[in-house]
Amino acid sequence: MAAALRGIGLLRARLGLPAAAAATSAALGRAPHRAPALRGGAAAARPSAGRSYGSQAKEEEELRVRYLDDEHKGIVVLGLNRSHAKNALSKNLVKMMSKAVDALKSDKKVRTVIFRSEVPGIFCAGADLKERAKMHSSEVSSFVSRARATINELANLPVPTIAAIDGTALGGGLELALACDIRVAASSAKMGLVETKLAIIPGAGGTQRLPRTIGVSLAKELIFSARVVDGEEAKSIGLISHVVEQNEAGDAAYKRALALAKEFLPQGPVAMRVAKLAINQGMEVDLVTGLAIEEACYAQTIPTKDRIEGLLAFKEKRPPRYKGE
Ligand SMILES: *[C@@H]1O[C@H](CO)[C@@H](O)[C@H](O)[C@H]1NC(C)=O
Repeated sequence: MAAALRGIGLLRARLGLPAAAAATSAALGRAPHRAPALRGGAAAARPSAGRSYGSQAKEEEELRVRYLDDEHKGIVVLGLNRSHAKNALSKNLVKMMSKAVDALKSDKKVRTVIFRSEVPGIFCAGADLKERAKMHSSEVSSFVSRARATINELANLPVPTIAAIDGTALGGGLELALACDIRVAASSAKMGLVETKLAIIPGAGGTQRLPRTIGVSLAKELIFSARVVDGEEAKSIGLISHVVEQNEAGDAAYKRALALAKEFLPQGPVAMRVAKLAINQGMEVDLVTGLAIEEACYAQTIPTKDRIEGLLAFKEKRPPRYKGE
């Protein structure tokens, strides 16, 4: 450990690299204690002065936020619901997502987040190019940076996130799924990172997260060829963790995601947060630095109430009652 820390110090001094372990502690220390701002279906849905687009969905209905109950308590489902545009990421949808993710970040009742679509056959068709065509170029860059920031925030949520891909996920839609910890898809779902032959490269993390997920060579092949893969192929290259046969209701991937989320529920929330942070940060550095990050993370869990409760429960042979901190 001493050697590892010396190594980090040396690295920092020599290369001016950000202090990974220090950053980790800082991130861990930032205990979110804001009251949950969102509840029930009204989440992310602040009415926007009654604006409406004729037959199109009202803006606040484009992202449905549901806090599940009973055996699924602790699971929050974000449902894309912009059917007239195949869930394309518009300014409004990104704004809704940003609000929802922001609220989830500091809500201690949330244990796992599932991202899905409420629109049959579609996960998300990517950026809303129709809307973009009407934007001024300065507007485009601020929109793309907001989309990117929102997707990063999603990736950094302190709880596990699962993308349930029951239909087509293209471009920004797949980038969104790549920012989740785990992806589950129906075998019929179509996935591709580069939407068309437009002169657009992935701008919301795709060129970075795809190679980190499936490896450099395959990622390049997929991007260079603009290839679209189905669920089976996505599974075979490691783009998704589970592939399922679609069912009549069209929500087989969601059902699988729900079963997965249920497996996560009994775990201690502090341990989950710290483990995700250790993995996410550790994957970006060399092993020695990564092990130092793990040690810093581990040390953070020792004094927590969760851990004490976990050990007590173990001694008393009962299930732990985690509260999170
Ligand atoms: C989804 O959008 C439709 C309109 O396309 C709307 O009627 C419906 O209420 C929305 N669903 C939710 C759950 O917000």
